[in-house]
Amino acid sequence: MPQNHAVRIVDASDTFPRNSERWRPIRVSAEVIEAEIERLSRIPAPHNGRRSLFIVHPESKEVSGFAPGVQIAINVLLPGERTEGFRYNASQVELCIRGRGTVHVDNQTTVMDQFDVAAIPSMRRHWHSNDGDTAWVRLSYSNAPLLQRLGALYVEESEAASSAPSDDLFVAATYTSDSAPEIAVSPEGARLRGYEFLTDIPVVENRALFWPWKSVSASLASEPGDGKRNIMLLYNPATERRNGTTHSFFATMSRVPPGLPPRGPRRGHRHSSVAINYHFEGSGWSEVDGEKIEWSAGDLLLSAPGWSEHAHFFNPEGASVLTVQDHPLHIGMESLIWQERIDGPILTLGSQPGQKGYVGPRAVGTT
Ligand SMILES: [Fe+2]
Repeated sequence: MPQNHAVRIVDASDTFPRNSERWRPIRVSAEVIEAEIERLSRIPAPHNGRRSLFIVHPESKEVSGFAPGVQIAINVLLPGERTEGFRYNASQVELCIRGRGTVHVDNQTTVMDQFDVAAIPSMRRHWHSNDGDTAWVRLSYSNAPLLQRLGALYVEESEAASSAPSDDLFVAATYTSDSAPEIAVSPEGARLRGYEFLTDIPVVENRALFWPWKSVSASLASEPGDGKRNIMLLYNPATERRNGTTHSFFATMSRVPPGLPPRGPRRGHRHSSVAINYHFEGSGWSEVDGEKIEWSAGDLLLSAPGWSEHAHFFNPEGASVLTVQDHPLHIGMESLIWQERIDGPILTLGSQPGQKGYVGPRAVGTT
């Protein structure tokens, strides 16, 4: 029987595109995470050194994401262990939640302590080692599910995988974007460019970066009225105007110090970027599309599925939170829509003037 490879024809006359279905918010408790860390610590040492699991949302189908475009792994490395190196075209944000270890990215090595954050760029051979005497545990966020969905995740497992460019690339240097034709077509800005522009992209250096908690913590409010911000972006300059930690994600650290007066009931805000909160100190609750979800230290929360209304509230003990959002990705696609007040305008951030007046210290946890 010949296989039928015919395309499907879908009549779309007299229709508009439909709004996406939203995934539910979901909390993964500290107890569940703790039990899985314990389990990973007890399994025999894997051949590639990776004691690892994915936290998968129940609505995730073909991709193993905690959100549609975000994969979250718990990684454990016992004393004396190391992982095999590999590289892939996904990029990662990593949070050390326990212990201490070393991240190796190409020839760069950096020690991570508790609550330090790392950004590991795409296509860099990287591996991890634990030279300490306690288990090292990391939460790793990657954009792999989106690449899988695009059919474009590329992985090179070889220990010898190299990030260095080949000399061959420099042989035919005649054909570069500097010498390619460029022709104006319309006064509004339409242009023609030679093919070289597509293959000889200007390079913006993107190094593996680290944000030690010691430095981040010193910049965050530690007591009411100390004049420090409650939330700070972990900014990677390679992401330029897209204000990311990687080219896909931003990570923010926020801290509500103990003793702040409780916040009264209020509506939330919403944005097309998805937000995931990991609470590592304190407690509180979130209201997400009308659902109240209580959380405390050690809980991971899909706190804002894309375009869901959300607001966060804190108990008197305060809280510290790492938030990851696929915000830079959306800016790159011109799909970052944002509604700060639920009865206010919907702004397309990055292509029209953004929100003004939210400086500080702005309402914590509204990420
Ligand atoms: Fe938000």
